[in-house]
Amino acid sequence: MSTLGLGIIGLGVGKGALLLNQKSDSPIQVRAVADKDSERLKLVHEDYGVGFVTRDYNELLSRSEVDVVGVFTPDHLHGEHAAAALEAGKHVICTKPMVTTMADCERLVHLVDRTGLKFVAAMTWRHLPKILAARRAFDEGKIGKVTLIDTGYVHDIRRVCQITPWRVTTPQDFLLGGGAHAIDCVRWFAGDIDTVHAFALNSGVIPSYPIEDTWILNLKFASGALGRVSVICSAVNSPPEAHQRLVIYGTKGTLTGLDLGMDGVFERETLNADQPANKERLIEGHANELLRYFYKMAHWIVADEEPSPSVRDGARVVAVALAAQESLSTGRPVKVCNNF
Ligand SMILES: NC(=O)c1ccc[n+]([C@@H]2O[C@H](COP(=O)([O-])OP(=O)(O)OC[C@H]3O[C@@H](n4cnc5c(N)ncnc54)[C@H](O)[C@@H]3O)[C@@H](O)[C@H]2O)c1
Repeated sequence: MSTLGLGIIGLGVGKGALLLNQKSDSPIQVRAVADKDSERLKLVHEDYGVGFVTRDYNELLSRSEVDVVGVFTPDHLHGEHAAAALEAGKHVICTKPMVTTMADCERLVHLVDRTGLKFVAAMTWRHLPKILAARRAFDEGKIGKVTLIDTGYVHDIRRVCQITPWRVTTPQDFLLGGGAHAIDCVRWFAGDIDTVHAFALNSGVIPSYPIEDTWILNLKFASGALGRVSVICSAVNSPPEAHQRLVIYGTKGTLTGLDLGMDGVFERETLNADQPANKERLIEGHANELLRYFYKMAHWIVADEEPSPSVRDGARVVAVALAAQESLSTGRPVKVCNNF
């Protein structure tokens, strides 16, 4: 199989893709990068020898050596950049949140259907050892059917806001920007969400952040299960173990973190979360989880398989967040649009 060419738009978290170029057996390698920041481009050119660098992402999209485009720009630009990549005939790996409006959800679903190109809504939580261990137990039937699931995107985001000021000035909507991980996580275990009832506040903890930074969403799933998602970006000095909290109550067992208790079994079980993702820690940030999406994308293209999470999964996550915003403004539970 010949190596696929990757083009990266946005060199913040997106620069993790450059690790692919240090692995000679990688099925996909970075051949072009686009960023508005000339300093970042210069470093990538000098340190990683990427042949084509540009401030104009359209130039990257016109390169024949680029087969797949990674979209890693600020949230509100994903719709524009992912749509342009699909229009240019490129497969797309899009960071979370997939987009920020319902119109862009519909646009991307339509474009993926029309072009037949591969698209993955790259939710990094799905590659975290703790979440993977829970998923394995779930797939083995140890938890049974979900009756109630509770998770939270919990973060003291102040330092991140200092190094990426667009999060405060644009601003990034944390319900979408961080909450997308948690919403995708509960959907992965319990399926489509039917109704959401939300409350939110601005804590004042994050200097100059103008909108809600603290959310709680009560959920009813299409299956009848219940759920709760907290999005707390104002979690002052919160410990890492609080950051991807996951509790699942099922018909056969209860999972709290990595601790699983099954019906009729006296001893509780501690799930093994020692995944390769842990052993292969290469770089700060989310590169370990993202690299898996790049490898998987190469497989999905060659095997002609549907990526996961798909463009429809990405759209349904955004739809939950938008329904939560409507619930906050009306004070009522709101039906989620899953009709993509
Ligand atoms: N776990 C995860 O999956 C994860 C973690 C962090 C960030 N993210 C997502 O990644 C995206 C970027 O966040 P970040 O923290 O890397 O921010 P960042 O500010 O560090 O990086 C964004 C980059 O995009 C560039 N950019 C902005 N507009 C552009 C344009 N029009 N054309 C080309 N480049 C442009 C900026 O110059 C910057 O280098 C966000 O959507 C964020 O939600 C995902």
